[in-house]
Amino acid sequence: MKKNERGLWATKFGFIMATVGSAIGLGNVWKFPYITGVHGGGAFVVTYLVCICLVGIPVMLAELIIGRSTHQNPEGAIEILASKKSNWKIIGYMGIFTAFIILSYYSVVSGWILSYIGKSILGKFNANQDAAQIASMLATLLQNGTLVIVLHFVFMAITTFIVMFGVHSGIEKASNILMPALFIMLLGLLIYALTIPGSLSALEFIFKPDFSKLTPKAVLEGLGHAFFTLSLGMGAMITYGSYLNHNQRLIPSAFLVALLDTVVALIAGVIIFSIVFTFNLEPDAGPTLIFSTLPSLFSQIPYGNIIAVLFFISLGFAALTSAISIMEVVVSFFIDKFHWTRKKVTISVGFAAFLLGILSALSFNVISEVKLPLGFLFGERPTFFDAFDKIASNILLPLGGLLIAVFVGFKVKKAVFDRELTTSEKKLVPIIKFILRFVAPALIGIVFLYGLNLTHPIFEYLGIE
Ligand code: PFF
Repeated sequence: MKKNERGLWATKFGFIMATVGSAIGLGNVWKFPYITGVHGGGAFVVTYLVCICLVGIPVMLAELIIGRSTHQNPEGAIEILASKKSNWKIIGYMGIFTAFIILSYYSVVSGWILSYIGKSILGKFNANQDAAQIASMLATLLQNGTLVIVLHFVFMAITTFIVMFGVHSGIEKASNILMPALFIMLLGLLIYALTIPGSLSALEFIFKPDFSKLTPKAVLEGLGHAFFTLSLGMGAMITYGSYLNHNQRLIPSAFLVALLDTVVALIAGVIIFSIVFTFNLEPDAGPTLIFSTLPSLFSQIPYGNIIAVLFFISLGFAALTSAISIMEVVVSFFIDKFHWTRKKVTISVGFAAFLLGILSALSFNVISEVKLPLGFLFGERPTFFDAFDKIASNILLPLGGLLIAVFVGFKVKKAVFDRELTTSEKKLVPIIKFILRFVAPALIGIVFLYGLNLTHPIFEYLGIE
């Protein structure tokens, strides 16, 4: 390892902000509301919350322990904790692969946000437009494949640029300012949203579970989303933990990050569904949901234009801090493993992910009719965009999380726990180990069996109808 290519977080606040910056992103503001809408609200939200508590927080702790005890990228970390030849290294390789896939389409959606920053600066969301006209703006953008690719390129280029400057000068400084800004803005919008007529229906939709609406697919999506939103299962938290020094207590950190992340998602949900029910929009609109709802709110409220500009800029930054962490997983691997320079690695990774992302960018226009033969896993045949998201979020991340839980639960030595946890934290080790060894793997296993339709062959084999 080249020591000078690595760094450490300068302050505790910097680490928390960067980690929260990784966790809070499109997953909270774009994806959580849209999948909640698709899966019918409350019962899905309960599933997601259960997965955050029982699986998410323990796996986050496991990743931070792996990262901080080794100061290495995911693959290198496992090599140190297990052995050079250990098969557990698959966790690292799988994480790097997953990160690469997520980065490719994450940047595409972030590109849409860049366009909405432009639209709001130009004052496109105003009272002369009704909700339907505003909702059609995204469809118009998505039809323009070239523009979507250009925006995707711009976003990837910005991410690449920041990652190139390394942990301290780039990531940490940006996060310290931008994450609090987004949080304050969301709080302001929440207060406003609670005064509009649809807010009661929104609260009911999100917080009143109707379990008859819950399908095995929704449960799988809830589990997958718990991983996605907390940046777990692919080594992002191993990587961020690897830049952490020993002043920081890991258990409170994991709780704090999960709490802030969940609060932001719920706030975004309340805001967006208040708009949906006020303007009679469709809650199950899918990936376009926030783009058709939020601008309607901005077009109605005082100073809406300025708020729109500020909001989309801070959402863009939230996406950026997450994209940075996703790219950092891949970049730190190549730096640690092959001793290449950060500059060379970052530019290559950014360019390759841009190329792969083109398939997602075109999934809404030129190749929208190309559906992949993965219906047996997901029910419907997905487009490239859907397939990348579903394979990464709902299969690879939970699978990675399962392996990380089992690895830390069974394989990591007691001495490592002793070193990484403080005296008061150590009291919790038996509970943590129990969850990592049994609870999390069992939950993930069961959700896989049902959500991916794997029960059928097994029951058939066992002769059960
Ligand atoms: N947690 C990010 C979000 O909610 O937008 C996305 C993400 C970042 C996923 C880092 C995975 C990851 F490793």
